[in-house]
Amino acid sequence: MLPRLGRAIVMLNMGGPSTVPETHDFLKNLFSDGDLIPLPFQSFLAPWIARRRTPQIEKQYEDIGGGSPILKYTRLQGERMAALLDELNPSTAPHKAYVAFRYAKPLTDETAIEMKKDGVKRAVAFTQYPQYSCSTTGSSLNGLFRKGKTGTFGDAVEWSVIDRWGTNPGFIEAVSQNIERALAKFDEASRSDVVLLFSAHSLPMSVVNRGDPYVLEVSASVAAVMDRLKHSNPYRLVWQSQVGPSAWMGMQTGEALKGLARLGRKKVVLVPIAFTSDHIETLYELDLEYAKEAREHGIEVHRAESLNDSPVFIRALADLAASHLREYSAGDIGPTTVQLGLRCPGCTNATCEQQKSWFARGGR
Ligand code: FES
Repeated sequence: MLPRLGRAIVMLNMGGPSTVPETHDFLKNLFSDGDLIPLPFQSFLAPWIARRRTPQIEKQYEDIGGGSPILKYTRLQGERMAALLDELNPSTAPHKAYVAFRYAKPLTDETAIEMKKDGVKRAVAFTQYPQYSCSTTGSSLNGLFRKGKTGTFGDAVEWSVIDRWGTNPGFIEAVSQNIERALAKFDEASRSDVVLLFSAHSLPMSVVNRGDPYVLEVSASVAAVMDRLKHSNPYRLVWQSQVGPSAWMGMQTGEALKGLARLGRKKVVLVPIAFTSDHIETLYELDLEYAKEAREHGIEVHRAESLNDSPVFIRALADLAASHLREYSAGDIGPTTVQLGLRCPGCTNATCEQQKSWFARGGR
């Protein structure tokens, strides 16, 4: 139970199946999300694609230990962040973290019921995607808006939004420390030759070309990390997890590793730059697919750890939320950033417009 004057911090992310049998529902929810993948005849096609892909994806979750650890880490990060927030911002305490996943349990519906039961009156939608994309944070906000406007969270909840934080110094520091730990695994004499290969989830070019800010924001994170590392190593930003035949943002991570091998650059640190915890894209794709393939090409490769339970990262989350709450209470900021108010120039999704106005009014 959250006392009336406390603050709810709602951690938004895509989620993942915590157990293998949850894989089908996760995929069905994912392919049903028209904000992420607009499909013709979505309500028919989505279950069909989910059914077809389930066996292969179930196998991947089995290979990483029987499920995604994203819920475990998001809960852990949320609980520790809330405890820090109580110390940093006693005036808005107590703080309670809730998890709202887009495609896996706990879904927004479930979280809304819990928040209503707790009597939440003031909530912060805190994206756990450091860099903004309409496919990720935008989709989560659209989902929250759809539930919020029908009163699923309860009446008169006042909302504000933390929508992006890809250059936050604490986040950059946490990523940089993990890179330094990975670099330390290489021979000291050749350490400065190691290529840092930053890998982020790719986007279809149709999304990039409608003016989505994600590619720019991921690039800004990479630039900030490299500044913090004083440009100690050569680096590239590459893109992973493409699906289907359409064009996606490249260069693909797997192809980049092969290319580096061909060029004789045989020492690489893989850096997940757009995820806040391990999930299938790090544990399966990076570790079991790409790194394995790279080793077959003679590359010595180590992956920078995901942020998971990094205390530096959790402190960064608490600092972000604390300054947001302080500035909001002081009237220095409104419910949303100026940047969130701008739709992609190529956007044709009416929900984006409604969602942005609703959050700009504090969820009223
Ligand atoms: Fe970006 Fe709608 S797709 S605002």
